[in-house]
Amino acid sequence: MRYIDFRSDTVTMPTKEMRMAMSEALVGDDVYGDDPTMNELQELAARTVGKEAAIFVTSGTMGNQLSVMTHTNRGEEIIVEQDCHIVQHEVGAAAVLSGVNIKAIKGENSIMNPSDVRKAIREDDIHYPKTGLICIENALSNGLVVPLNIMKEIYTIAKHHDLPVHLDGARVFNAATYLGVTVEEICESTDSVTFCLSKGLCAPIGSILAGSKVFIEKAKKNRKLLGGGLRQSGILAAAGILAINDMSKRLHIDHENARYLAKRLTEIEGIKLDISKVQINMVFFNITETGFDPNLLVKKLFEKGIKSNGEENGLMRFVTNNDVSKGDIDFTINCMKEIMNEI
Ligand SMILES: Cc1ncc(COP(=O)(O)O)c(C=O)c1O
Repeated sequence: MRYIDFRSDTVTMPTKEMRMAMSEALVGDDVYGDDPTMNELQELAARTVGKEAAIFVTSGTMGNQLSVMTHTNRGEEIIVEQDCHIVQHEVGAAAVLSGVNIKAIKGENSIMNPSDVRKAIREDDIHYPKTGLICIENALSNGLVVPLNIMKEIYTIAKHHDLPVHLDGARVFNAATYLGVTVEEICESTDSVTFCLSKGLCAPIGSILAGSKVFIEKAKKNRKLLGGGLRQSGILAAAGILAINDMSKRLHIDHENARYLAKRLTEIEGIKLDISKVQINMVFFNITETGFDPNLLVKKLFEKGIKSNGEENGLMRFVTNNDVSKGDIDFTINCMKEIMNEI
């Protein structure tokens, strides 16, 4: 049975072209640096984000944590927004793997105010940990995009204090699509960036960590330490190349579909959402006023072949992706109306 899956863009299947490229990929032992397809992907990735070098990692979490580990020394402090993935969804890895303290600041809609970042940077005092890194997320997990001027201001502050900036750009291609700029322009305000090949870009596995040559050489050793040195990984890189070259160019369709979905959801009485917050491929909505139990809705939708996640912090989230068409959205809205007794 085919399911329509709104749970995330991580559920996307590799495309037919990816499967073909994977089956034909030239490979070698990447720990020796011998994998031509992996080398091609890493060079392409570095060029795309405007950095000197890049390495393939197995996940976005690994890219972020490798970055924290490589930028910092144990006992230092990293500045992050309190809702960011590094704090909320990476199992406390920054403490476990890198031994860093986390200074989490509260942003407006999870967007950090540069002056709060400035205030969070530690002075030289015998009692304080040393600030070692500032992390920004863009696009944010709440579906919003951080404006370029905010990123630039934070970067200027960081450079004034001689601090590196890491971007969790798991969905940086979505951010660039929304802003109408290249990912390189976004990454100009960062020293390192992680982005995911396996979310809206549809590759089956993998993320990229990019930065200066020196940084990436150090990160490569840390990747080995974490058991992330891969062998004939060109099979995965072949899909990654198509993710960057082809799939990044179709993200505007997911964004248009998300806005279409949002508009159609508001046809259902009691569903509340803020369309101005539908910036990428994520639609957050509240069903409290419908009087319908969110868990029951998830169950009933599943029975009709539609997968969705339960409510979190009072909001349900539907994510559009390459495997969800406009027709699937229409079908889903009709099912919701039927389930919620509107027709
Ligand atoms: C903003 C953000 N950063 C990092 C990640 C981690 O990616 P992965 O699931 O590949 O570890 C995610 C995953 O959803 C994410 O949304």
